[in-house]
Amino acid sequence: MEKNIGIFYGSSTGSTEKVAELLCNAFGQERCMVINVEDASKADLNKFAYLVLGTPTWEIGEMQEDWLDFIAELKKADLKKKKIAIFGLGDQEASADSFADGAGRLYEAVAEKATVVGAWPTEGYDFAKSMAIKDGKFVGLIIDEDNQKEKTPERVNAWVKMLKKEFK
Ligand SMILES: Cc1cc2nc3c(=O)[nH]c(=O)nc-3n(C[C@H](O)[C@H](O)[C@H](O)COP(=O)(O)O)c2cc1C
Repeated sequence: MEKNIGIFYGSSTGSTEKVAELLCNAFGQERCMVINVEDASKADLNKFAYLVLGTPTWEIGEMQEDWLDFIAELKKADLKKKKIAIFGLGDQEASADSFADGAGRLYEAVAEKATVVGAWPTEGYDFAKSMAIKDGKFVGLIIDEDNQKEKTPERVNAWVKMLKKEFK
């Protein structure tokens, strides 16, 4: 089977990398490739019809640092025909006022250029503010490995089930 799903992630302490791998396992290894944005180029974006983009939030409300560099490439890429899904990691207790803001910033960077799919309900999380909410839902899958690690597998599987209807 053609690998038409590219899972691009940035990760400083490994949690987003772990979730990227879990997502690829759930899609099926034969369908996807996991790529660290630290090593990625614009050409890598062109290889896939479907992009899954993941960032944790760092420095109070920012994308992970490797994304800050790669976002320029993403903005230059032709994303018109792509379907994109976003995932984000954050800490809803320690960062209740900027929970998963990085995912919201990533969404803003691509929303006008591509079709973004995979909005995710906010139920089951406890926080005050998040830039990752659009029309009452998260812009994509939000994972909290700091406080709700036990929920990660079921969240990943439910989201991938949803995305499989979009990613043919
Ligand atoms: C210094 C620092 C700042 C952080 N800032 C935020 C934040 O503003 N919002 C948030 O939701 N999480 C924040 N976090 C939590 C991380 O996003 C979370 O631990 C994430 O799982 C790390 O992912 P990584 O291991 O892939 O780098 C912060 C963590 C640290 C250590």
